[in-house]
Amino acid sequence: MKTLIKVLGLLMISALFALNVNAAQPKKIKKITAIDPQTGLIVAKGVENVIANCTACHSAKFIILQRGDRKTWKDMIVWMQETQGLWEFDPATEKSILDYLATNYAPDDKIERRKNLPHNELPKNPYEKIM
Ligand code: HEC
Repeated sequence: MKTLIKVLGLLMISALFALNVNAAQPKKIKKITAIDPQTGLIVAKGVENVIANCTACHSAKFIILQRGDRKTWKDMIVWMQETQGLWEFDPATEKSILDYLATNYAPDDKIERRKNLPHNELPKNPYEKIM
């Protein structure tokens, strides 16, 4: 009898433990894009470095309206360094800035778009008569 109670006790403890472990699992939260209200930049890893180094001379809109892969961004930075008085970055800062830009402001073709509508599905052109 004593052994049975012991076994039951152990089972209950392990059951509780298992429940607890489950409760400790982090909930999966769907990733949504947050926008920094001050600059309009996407909030992501490295954004502080970009705000600190890239919004001193011009608005962050320059970045938001631009797209590029890593090389394009690197070339733009080098161009600003050579001609616009942008300071040099230490390698870690440059990596963080390039990672951020190449990830969050990648070329447009990485963004999915629907195909153009076929001609017969387009709305009627309201200016047809005038032209
Ligand atoms: C020292 C000043 C300065 C800093 C700091 C600076 N820029 Fe610029 N940036 C400029 C100037 C000047 C222009 C050109 C503005 C113009 O065309 O009238 C420019 C233009 C740009 C453009 C537009 C390029 C184009 O072809 O239209 C982008 C994008 C840009 N910067 C991104 C950045 C990023 C990213 C950083 C941070 C790594 C940064 N800038 C930091 C001075 C700066």
